[in-house]
Amino acid sequence: MSVESLKCKECGTSYELDASYVCENCFGPLEVAYDFSGLDAAEVKRRIQAGSQGIWRYRDFLPFEGRASDPLEPGFTPLLKADRLAERLGVGAEIWIKNDAANPTHSFKDRVVAVAVAKAKELGFETVACASTGNLANAVAAHAAAAGLDSYVFVPANLEEQKLLATGVYGTNLVGVRGNYDDVNRLCTQLAETHPWAFVNVNLRPYYAEGSKTLAYETVEQLGWKLPDRVVSPIASGSLFTKLGRGFQEWLDIGLVEGVQPVFNGAQAEGCSPVATAFAEGWEVCKPQRPETIAKSLAIGDPADGPYAVEQARRTGGGVDSVTDQEIREGIKLLAETTGIFTETAGGVTVGVLRKLAERGELADGERVVVYITGEGLKTLDATRDTFQMHEIDPALESFEAEFPQEVAV
Ligand SMILES: Cc1ncc(COP(=O)(O)O)c(C=O)c1O
Ligand SMILES: [Zn+2]
Repeated sequence: MSVESLKCKECGTSYELDASYVCENCFGPLEVAYDFSGLDAAEVKRRIQAGSQGIWRYRDFLPFEGRASDPLEPGFTPLLKADRLAERLGVGAEIWIKNDAANPTHSFKDRVVAVAVAKAKELGFETVACASTGNLANAVAAHAAAAGLDSYVFVPANLEEQKLLATGVYGTNLVGVRGNYDDVNRLCTQLAETHPWAFVNVNLRPYYAEGSKTLAYETVEQLGWKLPDRVVSPIASGSLFTKLGRGFQEWLDIGLVEGVQPVFNGAQAEGCSPVATAFAEGWEVCKPQRPETIAKSLAIGDPADGPYAVEQARRTGGGVDSVTDQEIREGIKLLAETTGIFTETAGGVTVGVLRKLAERGELADGERVVVYITGEGLKTLDATRDTFQMHEIDPALESFEAEFPQEVAV
């Protein structure tokens, strides 16, 4: 078996594979460590291709010694070539959209939660919980229901109504905290100390984070076992962004794919941009911010993996940019009009940053760019209000023709 231990990202101290997340020596974050030395690339590839049509096909790279089960298996979401988007942006690059809204609860969080809930079961927990900006809440409530576990879901009380409704429906204990995400997270860190619960993104965070690697693996498979040249991904805590890098690196290391790491471009909302600011200022750490943006799912003012995200953007020759709320709305529309994909505000942030890269001339002809769309537009409907007009008419031909004089019947 290739899963070895939990290992501190800072000092390398190893720990047992249990529900812990912080190093006792240096307070660094723990990460799952594997031993891939015995893996034969051809054999692994065969196993992947014979596997399920979802994330469990990558079980060699996930933190389980036995067989993980999950009735709501996420993954294998569409990767679409977006030629009309490239045309509108005026670039000769190949733009690919990875539509991860096409998961059971309509965001990429199904991947991380499926892994964390399966691990919680394996470790014997009866209750799962999370601190969420919205999408995680949907996913934890649903996967807990599917697995027959109790759940507590903590969110900022002022979340979008759609996200609250699409969480409460699963019969979870939905707790709206009067505060922002960073307040919610602080409370959950205390609760994780005092309650025997599996907080998917607190005490199970090392396992949870592994789920995001599956987005990188799928991308490689769907591109015909090739790496993208560049990726554009949203950043909240920085976990997804850094785990995409880890996923590509693991496959490079064991020889499942050839080439080099893609250039990494991170996307944040201007109203919550601690990682973009650290990148622009040349800082190694992020200075916490108080979020004020319509991209609530990305509104983490004190990002746990922020410094690693900055480092990865620098190392790969990429960057981290931010966009205004208006640019987020325009990004949502641009994607919808050119691809038929309706994304939530996080996707508006990502497409907004893609547009900036295009405008700055940073996308080369023929370059293969994968853009990660991580959530569904129906969850943040307010962001599209007043961006178009409905034609209201009487149920009569004349009324239609009066409204559309250019369409008068011939
Ligand atoms: C839709 C969406 N995209 C991206 C992210 C970023 O996640 P991470 O915290 O891994 O950076 C989130 C986090 O909540 C999200 O909801
Ligand atoms: Zn340490």
